Amino acid sequence: MAEQLNYLDKINQTAEYIKSKLTELPKTAIILGTGLGELVNHIDIKTAIPYDEIPNFPVSTVQGHKGRLIFGTLGNKYVMAMQGRFHFYEGYSMKEVTFPVRVMKAIGVKTVFVSNAAGGMNPDFKIGDLMMITDHINLFPEHPLRGKNYDELGPRFPGMGHAYSERLIEKAREVAKTNGIRLMEGVYVGTQGPTFETPSEYRYFWRIGGDAVGMSTVPEVIVACHGGMEVFGMSVITDMGNEGHIEKVSHEEVQKAAAAAEPKMSFIMEELINQFEEL
Ligand code: HPA
Repeated sequence: MAEQLNYLDKINQTAEYIKSKLTELPKTAIILGTGLGELVNHIDIKTAIPYDEIPNFPVSTVQGHKGRLIFGTLGNKYVMAMQGRFHFYEGYSMKEVTFPVRVMKAIGVKTVFVSNAAGGMNPDFKIGDLMMITDHINLFPEHPLRGKNYDELGPRFPGMGHAYSERLIEKAREVAKTNGIRLMEGVYVGTQGPTFETPSEYRYFWRIGGDAVGMSTVPEVIVACHGGMEVFGMSVITDMGNEGHIEKVSHEEVQKAAAAAEPKMSFIMEELINQFEEL
């Protein structure tokens, strides 16, 4: 309970620490998924802060995988990026998984771009496709907003009817069309992992209205919406689990497919970030 009571103070303390390191505050943030960190190489980095130096930030569980916050210029925009995210399956609570998003909001971020690797259920999809997220289905067993609500952060019962920004979806469609990039759209199912799905689970997720499934993104998007931030999300389809066509999936294959599709993903994200008007 003590942690709950201190939640606002922690967010503010962390935000103050980060602000003290910066001369300019970003309005746009990027959270990059598994194997999709390459976009960071396009950022002209001004400031980088390792997670383990940031007060109240979750401590990374992955050996030799140092996460950091990056601040710099991507095209014509000054942005921040999370290099490395926190997953629920690693053992973090939902409050920990989403803490960086609270901090983003506290330093003035208005728009969040999220990417992930996902398994496709929609039979029209192919490995290596990009899927713009138009909506999600939250199947995580713990909710990031469970517990005391701080009205300063957002409403007790936030709507999720427009979680993914229509104007950014429209803009991304334009970018893809102009550049001849195949861009699918669909509903992302967020599950806890760390197992990949059984054939019956993929079929189930397809039948309930999902187009792709993954183990991230939904918690961060919920918290971003709660805080009134604008969200754009994109999945890279790294494996397929549709009816009658279940392939063996492994982390290595997911990483390989993500890396192969990455240039396309980075291109669309960068163009979109360049072209959109900050709120
Ligand atoms: N299921 C869940 N998460 C994933 C998958 C999948 O098939 N592929 C990449 N992340």
